[in-house]
Amino acid sequence: MMNNNTLNATNILIFGATGDLAKRKLFPAFYNLFIDGRMPDNFNIIALGRSDHNDEYFRNYIKVNLEAFSRKNVTAEEWDSFQSHITYFQHQLDDESSYINLNQKLEELDSQFGMRGNRLFYLSIGPNFVATISNHIKKTSLASQADKDRIIIEKPFGYNKQSAIELNQLLSETFEEKQIYRIDHYLGKETVQNILAFRFGNSIFEPLWNHRHIESVQITVAEEVGVETRGGFYEQTGALRDMVQNHLLQVLCMVAMEAPLSLESDEIRDRKVDVLKSIRRIPADKVDYYAVRGQYGEGEINGKKARAYREEEGIAPDSNTETFVAVKFYIDNERWQNVPFYVRTGKKMKEKQSYITIQFKPLPHSTFSDTNPLSANRLIINIQPLMDIRLQFMTKKQGLSMALRPVEMIFDYFACKEDTPEAYETLLQDALEGDLTLFMRSDQVEEAWDVVTTIQEDWANKKAPFPNYDAGSWGPKESFDLVERQGHTWA
Ligand code: BG6
Repeated sequence: MMNNNTLNATNILIFGATGDLAKRKLFPAFYNLFIDGRMPDNFNIIALGRSDHNDEYFRNYIKVNLEAFSRKNVTAEEWDSFQSHITYFQHQLDDESSYINLNQKLEELDSQFGMRGNRLFYLSIGPNFVATISNHIKKTSLASQADKDRIIIEKPFGYNKQSAIELNQLLSETFEEKQIYRIDHYLGKETVQNILAFRFGNSIFEPLWNHRHIESVQITVAEEVGVETRGGFYEQTGALRDMVQNHLLQVLCMVAMEAPLSLESDEIRDRKVDVLKSIRRIPADKVDYYAVRGQYGEGEINGKKARAYREEEGIAPDSNTETFVAVKFYIDNERWQNVPFYVRTGKKMKEKQSYITIQFKPLPHSTFSDTNPLSANRLIINIQPLMDIRLQFMTKKQGLSMALRPVEMIFDYFACKEDTPEAYETLLQDALEGDLTLFMRSDQVEEAWDVVTTIQEDWANKKAPFPNYDAGSWGPKESFDLVERQGHTWA
């Protein structure tokens, strides 16, 4: 199998290797990178877990999951060569001797490489374990080489601004900022990365990309799934922390940022931080006006009865956790003054659909009669499962009279290439290569928490009238009121 011989030999350590993310996303991503020849010539994946498994058992477990979740087929030959890179290592997160043993294991693996390999620590565990792991890594000098060792941390990064600051501080005692990869997988999605190309690689959109021409921006991330087996995690998290503070705000930054001077990672991240800093903070006494929360009750999705959130596994019968959020943000800068940015996300909604709508202003004056109502132009960037860009505009209907109708011009990714890499493939490859561009810097995470702080505090202190939307709907009525109040509609 061909591999990437420009990458250093690497030991990849996955904390939480028996968890959901590892089986659905991480192992499939490594496997696909491997098939594409993008893994280093020499690498090991060391799967860390509490249970006592042997390599054979764990490799089989991974194989079954690859068959279910891998983008590419699992063939006998490719699997055979991939599996030899996987090692299971029994490990207790809070036990120092476990880390000492791990160090020995790494030294053994390094001696097989014939050199001190790079070390990539992937923390696929809840935020409350990050400090413990980081402290142990420091004490046992597991990550002693700043140029070779990297740590990837899953979101949510902390619980709020203060805990994120503390976590950043603590991590900085063990790692330099250039070693810390705070992952937000939305940034790895092909369609999200394309926003940069679309905006700054063309001359025709950018002149219109401002408050003079744009009426509103909407970002919707709707999911059909509920909390599935993650009830315990989700009860502590809720949609604001799980989706808005990270994924939705990062997408918003891509839409709103100024042109970076180069593709240098800090330059791009600086421009994103500018946006986060310019987002108008919602006053503590106006949270109800700008933000809506919801929780699904029973309903029907695709003709099947769907349970209420409070009836899901691991959820309190009187849970106050939100499964839906809609917020209206403003960005106080020259480009975006007074343009509402509406964002919404929810679980168990009518369908899985993530998209951005750029709603242009209506014409100030129409040449056409009242019988020919004009729809204002709209640009829709479909993130998933549709992956396309649609420009809506008016044209003449074919025929003898001058009658108009709206039409769409579509750029469809699938028409170009059906097989798009998964977000985790892109991000893991970047981490192996040491490219931080698509990862969040400490100040980005802290600013993003700052943006939602008043909402978090207000909601934590008040009981909500839950459930307030049916599973299989588009969310609570208040979410529609939020946009309609200003003469807008969710597009
Ligand atoms: C994760 C959230 O970050 O993103 C999940 O924790 C959510 O709750 C998921 O379901 C959505 O990701 P995607 O790529 O399926 O849109």
